[in-house]
Amino acid sequence: MEIATFLPKTYTESIDNGSVTWKSPSNIALIKYWGKKEDQIPQNPSISFTLDACATVTTLTYKKKEVTNDHFSFELFFEGKQKDDFKPKINIFLERIHQYLPFLKDFHFTIETSNSFPHSSGIASSASGMSALALCLMSLEKELNPTMTDKDFNRKASFLARLGSGSASRSIEGDLIVWGEHLDTIGSNDVFAIKYPYKVHEIFKNFHDTILLVDKGEKQVSSTVGHNLMHNHPFAQQRFAQAHENLTKMQSVLADGDLNEFIAIVESEALTLHAMMMTSMPYFILMKPNTLEIINHIWKFREESGTHICFTLDAGANVHILYPENEKEIVYSFIQKELVKFCQNGHHICDRIGFGAKKV
Ligand code: DP6
Repeated sequence: MEIATFLPKTYTESIDNGSVTWKSPSNIALIKYWGKKEDQIPQNPSISFTLDACATVTTLTYKKKEVTNDHFSFELFFEGKQKDDFKPKINIFLERIHQYLPFLKDFHFTIETSNSFPHSSGIASSASGMSALALCLMSLEKELNPTMTDKDFNRKASFLARLGSGSASRSIEGDLIVWGEHLDTIGSNDVFAIKYPYKVHEIFKNFHDTILLVDKGEKQVSSTVGHNLMHNHPFAQQRFAQAHENLTKMQSVLADGDLNEFIAIVESEALTLHAMMMTSMPYFILMKPNTLEIINHIWKFREESGTHICFTLDAGANVHILYPENEKEIVYSFIQKELVKFCQNGHHICDRIGFGAKKV
């Protein structure tokens, strides 16, 4: 995909000030992105369910600078409070995207952001946060270039969000999203995410994701450090090849509604992600004893109940429990009875598949 597509055309409008708000969801990868090259290019393709309840709401207020200068000017409020420690990350993001949005230094911005999920829940907010900000900036670009189509808007929003955080590229649309070039997935590419383009069986339409908050502390390994662990990793090449194969296998699973094979791929991906961390140098164990308790209980319950509950993990101890709509009563009552006790203060979030970001 030609990156030049995202260089701006001449703007037809000019604008002095305004404000826009976007609500952008988090997502959960079924096939994991772990390992990246320069410029936020993933080492392998990934696919995710877009979530619904876990989201970031960001309001961007913009005002044309009276005197133009050569720096980015912005204030940042997180949950109502000024947050200067987030500023360097945003500054890096603005640096990276400036060539694609050349008006960024012409405005003073106020960015007000808040998450629907509890602060320090251990849930990564980079996907929802970076995608929300990218969408707000795209709305401003659309004011300057009103003829932009929705398709171009979404593509560029995903492209920009990726430059903030790789997984954020998958948070613009729903409900199943692919990011990263994959030979068997038409339109897939490394620079923006696309809606999964093939048939999806009904059973995957209303999937639930109950997130068990096992450890609400700060992330032990930042995503940058984590992805870097794949450089010179002894199993890196096999892992990247496996992600491609799993995505190919996933296509017939999704088309046929083969839940057993779905479970096998999703759980294996989660454990492989953690295996990569355990076998890198330096090495990390990000699961906690309660993560393993939950996994063992899920396996036992699945065997006994004949349901199709399964788990996935991100780079942390929290567990995402996935299950289809038609099993929600029995599975959720199991979660409440047997699993919530392994969560910090019993905290868990009931989420489900969502359909992408919305302008508020
Ligand atoms: C384990 O998107 O947080 O959640 O690009 O450095 O911001 P950066 O990384 P990030 O990595 C997410 C990795 C993962 C798997 C996934 O979501 O695919």
